[in-house]
Amino acid sequence: MKAILLCAGKGTRLKPLTHTSAKHLIPLANKPALEYGIEKIIECGIEEIGLIIGEETGEDIRQAIGDGQRWGIKISYILQSKPLGLAHAVTTARDFLQDDAFLMFLGDNLLKNSILPYRQKFEKGKTKAFVLLTPVENPEQFGVVELKGDKIVRMVEKPKVPISDLALIGVYFFDKIIHKAIENIKPSARGELEITDAIQWLLNNHYDVAAEIIEGWWKDTGKPDDILEANRLVLEDIQRDLGETKIEQKSRILGRVNLAPGVEIINSTILGPVVIGEKVKIVNSYVGPFTSLSDRVEIENSEIEYSVVMANTHIKDVKYRMQNCLIGKDVHIYRSAGLPLVYEFILADDSNIRLM
Ligand code: G1P
Repeated sequence: MKAILLCAGKGTRLKPLTHTSAKHLIPLANKPALEYGIEKIIECGIEEIGLIIGEETGEDIRQAIGDGQRWGIKISYILQSKPLGLAHAVTTARDFLQDDAFLMFLGDNLLKNSILPYRQKFEKGKTKAFVLLTPVENPEQFGVVELKGDKIVRMVEKPKVPISDLALIGVYFFDKIIHKAIENIKPSARGELEITDAIQWLLNNHYDVAAEIIEGWWKDTGKPDDILEANRLVLEDIQRDLGETKIEQKSRILGRVNLAPGVEIINSTILGPVVIGEKVKIVNSYVGPFTSLSDRVEIENSEIEYSVVMANTHIKDVKYRMQNCLIGKDVHIYRSAGLPLVYEFILADDSNIRLM
């Protein structure tokens, strides 16, 4: 079985970070979000992945992820030149998929548990599609499924009036018949060929479609709050590992803290779960739970928790504790020594600053 991993989306809701970075490369616990998807696919025994990329971010993704050698698998890249929908992405991958059954995995999905049991059920059950579901509070934002027992009655993409609270989580197993279904559907109101409509076509034409509600958490990382929450969920599972780092007496490293090589911690408290990248420097500061600091970040005379800080960013002399912060690469936050006493900002489009 092959897999396609979809990461052509631009990440409009994650601006300004996505002005300069692919949303799928935003780090969660210091690892690009997309790698969690790749690992889930490998964990279910698949060794050939087609990564569907878009024009704008495709090259960056290719550079960051490579050909799969480091995982001992094969990754190929398939360009979806226009964002015409998930079903359109499947069509783009037609040559790669040939007539094999396949797994389709949305690149901005994050889930706790292995999907291997579902692959096994799909292969044993011989249904034409097998989809994974989870209850959500905002079903109008997802593809939603109505079930009768374990049978799907119907599914609707982003229903104005929800038919249930069970959302498609973006992990689908398909038989080759899905290609025929896609040929038979029309673009939706948002101008996209919806995979949800293709599965509904299977149902209308009396093909068997199975579904299962997943256990464990699932997160769609579309918005800034989702990134912080996804980062928290990943950090929930880390172990304490200080590596070779020597901790001087005035510092306290409490709980599940993970330090990369070359970290310097001086007169500071780190309260896990926290992940800290290479050559990070923390001086006279507090780094609290659910924080990830990428390589070469510097924090001085400041307090930060429940935040993601990307590489090379420097934070110095911030008076109040920083929380819920999502900060990109090479950002400088500091206090000016002289007059005038003013706020001075150089902010990219779509930035967000909350003052107190
Ligand atoms: C897509 C699918 C939707 C699914 C969701 C899961 O929505 O169309 O059915 O529930 O992913 O994240 P989109 O991300 O395109 O809004």
